[in-house]
Amino acid sequence: MDIAPFHQRRLSLLAQMDARGGGVAVIPTAPEFMRNRDTNYPYRADSYFHYLTGFPEPEAVLVLVAGKAPQAILFCRDKDVEKEIWDGFRYGPEAAGAAFGCDAAHSIKDFDAKLAELLADQPALWFSLGHDAEWDARMAAALNAVRAQARAGKHAPTAIHDVRAALDAMRLVKDAHEIGLMRRAARIAGAAHRRAMRCAAPGKYEYEVEAEFLHEFRRQGCQSPAYPSIVAGGANACVLHYVDNDRQLKDGELLLIDAGCELDGYASDITRTFPVNGRFSGPQADIYDLVLDAQTAAIAAIRPGATFLAPHDAAVRVLAQGFVDMKLLEGSVDGVIESGAYKRFYMHRTGHWLGLDVHDAGPYRSGEDWQVLAPGMALTVEPGCYIRPAEDVREAFWNIGVRIEDDALVTVDGCEILTADTPKTIADIEALMAEGKHG
Ligand code: GLY
Ligand code: MN
Ligand code: MN
Repeated sequence: MDIAPFHQRRLSLLAQMDARGGGVAVIPTAPEFMRNRDTNYPYRADSYFHYLTGFPEPEAVLVLVAGKAPQAILFCRDKDVEKEIWDGFRYGPEAAGAAFGCDAAHSIKDFDAKLAELLADQPALWFSLGHDAEWDARMAAALNAVRAQARAGKHAPTAIHDVRAALDAMRLVKDAHEIGLMRRAARIAGAAHRRAMRCAAPGKYEYEVEAEFLHEFRRQGCQSPAYPSIVAGGANACVLHYVDNDRQLKDGELLLIDAGCELDGYASDITRTFPVNGRFSGPQADIYDLVLDAQTAAIAAIRPGATFLAPHDAAVRVLAQGFVDMKLLEGSVDGVIESGAYKRFYMHRTGHWLGLDVHDAGPYRSGEDWQVLAPGMALTVEPGCYIRPAEDVREAFWNIGVRIEDDALVTVDGCEILTADTPKTIADIEALMAEGKHG
């Protein structure tokens, strides 16, 4: 593993701490979660901890001490030959410290006592207060342990800063290591979507198509899906967070699939919508092309200096025009936008930050203003249209749900679509599906 990017990020955080008076940062990894009786959910490290260390084991904490002689100290599980026979390798502090480039490493058993020593006479604690009640209590105990030594001349930090604010600002702009992983995660998810287009057919079950994703993700080395895959045939496409994936696909329906993978911590997030039988009907094509036009307009709005909201505004304008032209809504385009009437058919935002978390960390506003886009920021572009049956809507449109989602990386003069090799024009989708049926 290349530890340089993690080292660099720790230095950046330490520099931000120094700029605000220094102190000690405590960044624990995620706990293990029990699934049932003696079986845990698959383990995943905390995103902030992973961002700063790359260390994969549970029961670990990173402590950063700012100042003239900055230190990165890792706390982790001890070596345990007996446990390793059952559960596999664990580094132990000595090997972990060396492998992950930390200045010191200790047993997690010594964490509370050592933390009280490290916090003594420091100006500030940098911690994600409020994220985990047990950890909040542990930090309070550490601060009290220092306070208890007042008569010995020690004083406890008087300030607590939310370390997430500093880290979120860093995570918003991806470094080269992250961009490399995100490009790969996007390519793998694209391959899985192409696989799904080839395999889908009337009579198959949604979960059979979902299985194609799991197969492709694991085959290419991803650890897991980045979020529960949405494989939604027909009317299910109008349920935004549909995850049952247990219905049989019917001739004449659309299939909406929102699925992405997680590769070494980084998410991809792609949605494609295509006809189960390989050919769009007239009304399906009308709605599909409207959403595609909205997405094209949104992508064209992504460039440095534009705000996070610019792609959303661009997509909404195209959709609102389409809703009026197709007589789905009455009134003027401006009126439909101003009143929010378009939300009847398009009720979510056009994107979100993407990175270690599918809905990634990073501020959406800076003061009163929306975040201004800059090179290295990564966001999704995912307009949609969802039409539920209603008396005032032409029956031909009922139960059509379309979303088209790509992952964009802001570049110096626009954006790179990381997921560009996933077919999305009607012609490209129909050609690929025909290949699947006959090839
Ligand atoms: N797959 C989650 C999202 O699109 O936001
Ligand atoms: Mn998605
Ligand atoms: Mn998304």
